[in-house]
This record gives sequence, structure tokens and C-alpha cells, in this order.
Amino acid sequence: MSILDKFRLDGKVAVVTGGGRGIGAACAKAFAEAGANIVIGARTMSELESVQAEIEALGQKAVVIKLDVLNQDDRENFINAAIDAFGRIDILVNNAGGFPPKPALKTSIDDFEAAFRFNVSTALACTQLAIPKMIETAGEGSIINISSVAGHEPCSQFVAYGVAKSSLSFLTKELAQEFAPKIRVNAIAVGSTKTEALNTVLTPQIEKDMVDLTPMNRLGEVEDISACALYLASPASAYLTGDIIQVNGGLNSLNMKMPRAFD
Ligand SMILES: NC(=O)c1ccc[n+]([C@@H]2O[C@H](COP(=O)([O-])OP(=O)(O)OC[C@H]3O[C@@H](n4cnc5c(N)ncnc54)[C@H](OP(=O)(O)O)[C@@H]3O)[C@@H](O)[C@H]2O)c1
Repeated sequence: MSILDKFRLDGKVAVVTGGGRGIGAACAKAFAEAGANIVIGARTMSELESVQAEIEALGQKAVVIKLDVLNQDDRENFINAAIDAFGRIDILVNNAGGFPPKPALKTSIDDFEAAFRFNVSTALACTQLAIPKMIETAGEGSIINISSVAGHEPCSQFVAYGVAKSSLSFLTKELAQEFAPKIRVNAIAVGSTKTEALNTVLTPQIEKDMVDLTPMNRLGEVEDISACALYLASPASAYLTGDIIQVNGGLNSLNMKMPRAFD
């Protein structure tokens, strides 16, 4: 058996939240290229359908489901869609998430809790639905949480997002302990990666500053993240659980110049 065979996902089924664009879409396409069938969910059907067409062009099947990860009925339909369409579920990527930076004194408790709910509670809720089905249909599984460098390195104005992603990373470690050896749970702490979400804050000057502060001297591409996700999803990482892989171009602090409270 070639070592490259360990990166194959033939016969497996992956479900990806937020799979309509950006990192989620790239993960879905990488898994399809490796032989998996895919379920992707997000709120915008037209974007999901574009990704579905790309997956079908790769020779795999893709089911698209309207999903708001904050809604429990949607989450149930999403996980059940994998069983209905393909009879199994092997891989879950908890990718949908995010939250804009905001000064701490302007971050309401509602904001703080909303960031936690969107990034952490939804990942736990999808995991709770997926694990019994993984065990029942595949006997094992791999769960990948999309965390952030902001959850590992402190930065001004990231009190809500940073604490939420930090919690998502720790949730990953907790679940890995509880569900080993059948279910592996790992995370990717993503650095600044070129997606629509990042584009909303980029100006040419901000981009230049970010690149200058990044040891690898560029922003991430979605394929930098999906290559790591493929490793975590596949038997290549069979001995890895509870880990947070830092795919961030070598950062050991955030590459954003954020104003401090007394600037
Ligand atoms: N890009 C970066 O630099 C970066 C850095 C660190 C971490 N991350 C993390 O990476 C993940 C993906 O971010 P991205 O940059 O790929 O963002 P993106 O390009 O904006 O894509 C986000 C995807 O999630 C979907 N989504 C948003 N809200 C949703 C909801 N309530 N329910 C279901 N799906 C939802 C979006 O579709 P709809 O809007 O149609 O629902 C879209 O398909 C996030 O968890 C983010 O925190 C990104």
C-alpha cells in the first residue's frame, strides 16, 4: 500500500457546515477529490449548488441542504441528509463560524454569548448529532473543528471571537478524550486566509501590514487549510486526536494592527 493511499476517502461520507464558499467549500472539494461523497450546508442555496456542480465534475456525489447552524431542526436535517442519501457518515467539519472584532467595552454580553453560540455551541450540537450516527453506520469517525489563530494568540478587540475560538479549541481536546479511540476530534487554528469573510476587512494597506507580519510572507489560501483538513479526515492521521494544527504561516501573534483601548 502506498502512503498516498492513506489520504484516500473512497466510500466515505463527509458533512461540512458552511460549505458554500471559502474554507468549507475548499474542504468539501478536497474530500471529493480524495473519493468521498459530500453533504454541504449553508444559508445560500445558489452558492451550495455551485460547489455541488464542482464536486459532481470530480465524479463524486454532493447533497446540498439549507442550514442555519444556529437552528436545531436545520442541524438535524443536515446530519440526517447524509444517512438518507448515502447510508453513513464518517467525517464532520464544524466550519461555519466567525465574529467581527469589537472593543471590549462595546462588546455587549449578548455579543459575547452570540460569538460563543455561533462558534462553539453549534459545533457541540452538530457533534452530538453526528457521533451516534458515525458509530452506528461506520463504527468510527473524524471530526474537524475550524478554529483560529485568534483563539490561541491574544489581540486587542478580539475578546468575543478570540475567547470563542479558544473554547472551540479546548472543546476539541475535551471531546477527543471522551470519544477515543473510535472518534478522532482535531482542530485547525486557521491564520488569515483569503476568503470573502477576510475580504470584508481588507484594504490594500491592511493586507500589506498582515503580509509583513506573517513569517511566510503571504496570506493563506483556502487550499492551505483544506490540505490539512484532508490529512485530519483521512487514515493518514489515524494516530492523531485532540490536536490543534496551526496553519497560519508561522504566526506567534496576530498579524493585525488593532487599536488598544487608550490609543
Ligand atoms: N478566513 C480567515 O482568515 C479565517 C481565519 C481564522 C478562522 N477562520 C474560520 O474559518 C471558518 C470559515 O470562514 P471563511 O473565511 O471560509 O468564511 P466565508 O468565506 O464567509 O464562508 C463562510 C461559510 O459559512 C456559511 N455560514 C455563515 N453563517 C452560517 C450559518 N449561520 N449557518 C450555516 N452556514 C453559515 C456561509 O454561507 P451563508 O452565509 O450562505 O450561510 C459560507 O458558506 C469560520 O469558522 C472562521 O471563523 C477563518
